[in-house]
Amino acid sequence: MIKYITEAHDTCKAFLVNNDLSGSPMANAYIALALLTLTMSLLRSNKKKNASTPWNKVPGGLPIIGHIPHVPSILDTLEGWADTYDNGSGVVEVQMAGKKHFIICNQEKAQFIESKRPHKVIRGTKFSKAFTSLQVCGLIEAEGETWKKERRMIPPFFNHKNVQDYVSHANLVFSRLIKKWSSQCDAGPVAVTQDMHHAATDIISLSMLGYDLDSVTAPSEMATVLDTIAKLLLKRAVSPFPYWKIPIVRQYIDNGDPIAEKAVAFCKQVLAESAPSLQSSNNFLAAKLMKEMGKKADQFPEERLIGNMITMFFAGTETTATTNLFCMYQLAKDKVLQDELRTEAEALGEDIESIDVAALPSKLPLLTSFIFEVMRYFPAISIQRLESTVPLTLVDVEIPAQSSFIVVGRFISKKSNTPLGPLNSPRDKFCAKRYLTKNESGKYVLSGSGDIPTPSMGFRSFGPAARICPGRHLSMMEITLVLSKILRTFEVSLKDGKEDMKYVTNFALAFEEDLEVMLKPRAPKAT
Ligand code: HEM
Ligand SMILES: *[C@@H]1O[C@H](CO)[C@@H](O)[C@H](O)[C@H]1NC(C)=O
Ligand SMILES: *[C@@H]1O[C@H](CO)[C@@H](O)[C@H](O)[C@H]1NC(C)=O
Repeated sequence: MIKYITEAHDTCKAFLVNNDLSGSPMANAYIALALLTLTMSLLRSNKKKNASTPWNKVPGGLPIIGHIPHVPSILDTLEGWADTYDNGSGVVEVQMAGKKHFIICNQEKAQFIESKRPHKVIRGTKFSKAFTSLQVCGLIEAEGETWKKERRMIPPFFNHKNVQDYVSHANLVFSRLIKKWSSQCDAGPVAVTQDMHHAATDIISLSMLGYDLDSVTAPSEMATVLDTIAKLLLKRAVSPFPYWKIPIVRQYIDNGDPIAEKAVAFCKQVLAESAPSLQSSNNFLAAKLMKEMGKKADQFPEERLIGNMITMFFAGTETTATTNLFCMYQLAKDKVLQDELRTEAEALGEDIESIDVAALPSKLPLLTSFIFEVMRYFPAISIQRLESTVPLTLVDVEIPAQSSFIVVGRFISKKSNTPLGPLNSPRDKFCAKRYLTKNESGKYVLSGSGDIPTPSMGFRSFGPAARICPGRHLSMMEITLVLSKILRTFEVSLKDGKEDMKYVTNFALAFEEDLEVMLKPRAPKAT
């Protein structure tokens, strides 16, 4: 029962703190509804005895409600509990927002929980319902058999060979980005956050739909719609009740349905218009999938094709953009490192436009290691919440179905399995050379032949083995390309007095404020 009270409270708080709603009088309607749910839930009651467990429980907290982490720092709060209370069992129990959660603090336990996906452990029904309510029916929302089928079908189109088809899209978008910044950089600091997000959206649009939004050059209504859907998904996923099913009220809370309709209509139209050219052009995901569907009719209903397209915007935009921004910030902070990376990027020469994706790590070992380390240290997705569908045995104790697990991925990667690297750097420190090793002639090369490190190596930024991010090669290509281009074009430094940026996490980890950097054009090379 208390679950509803505190979740309602949390959601209200999250809404009012994080959103544009605080000015709206209709926010009151939302709160009234939340309070109604809360009162009704008060009428129900359940009490359970606290049995002793082989792991620690986070002590203290309010007697009934438990802990309500301060909204903006939930990540730090959870990591703090993991650090303080894990006594080696890898599990810490906490009563939070009226519900019991198991914080999963080490690789062994995380692997155990994650190995039960997609049937015995799922993302959570609330999460899925929020996605389907906005017609974002794709790989992320899918569980069980649907997921298995789509997982076999879609990720192959994200392998190196296919990502090669998307390189020209990334080059086009990044050249616009660099051009824009070049025209702005003499006038003082350049605000890069929005542009970086637009660039990521444009690349996804070209690579998934074959459509050029070009939101880097000029505002694009569709880019805004797609961005809004991402925000609404998160808002709905944390709501204690499906407010979007309540007529009249819903349009005041998020107006999501017409926005979702717009996105769907857009995707449908783009695909209908590109259908005649599908025979020849094969350089975007939808074309590849439609050809595949042609071979195996009835494999894939249209709504899931569209849903998966919107899924890619959601999954591939903010994650990649924030990672790019974290990288830029690290470059700006460390001039020595920046120069080392620049030397490597310059050596690419003209090849950069026609780069062989699979060869990127071996051509740019230091840059690749740097990107891996930024992702490990500042993972866009730092925690994952999961839910069991059946009873599971954890440290010899059976825990019931519908238990909640929070895997603290960033924390785990700072504690165990991560290589120390050639500089013997502690895991809780940032070290750009962590993934390098010296070869026989004393040169740095990537360890592990440059493959993306895995969770068993302490690298959890692309998710667990079972549902590892299919977009990882695409995003690595994007990040490597944009950083190479930036390094070759500008010297990057921090705006005065902006030494320390604050991080926040709503869904993805991000800077609290927009990033502004000084970009000094590098003298054109004498020819
Ligand atoms: C730096 C960039 C990225 C990061 C850090 C990232 C991170 C992740 C993580 C942690 C997961 C696993 C979530 C889970 O545990 O269930 C995931 C899943 C996923 N990602 Fe990414 N991602 C990135 C880029 C992309 C891109 C560019 C795309 C596609 C265009 C993409 C598409 C997906 C999809 C569809 C899933 C769901 C896979 C499934 O559940 O089977 N991601 N990503
Ligand atoms: C961890 O703590 C629990 C409960 O406080 C205790 O029962 C268990 O024996 C401890 N385990 C270890 C490995 O110290
Ligand atoms: C060591 O790496 C460098 C740079 O990649 C390469 O040129 C050289 O051939 C490598 N040496 C050996 C012995 O593998």
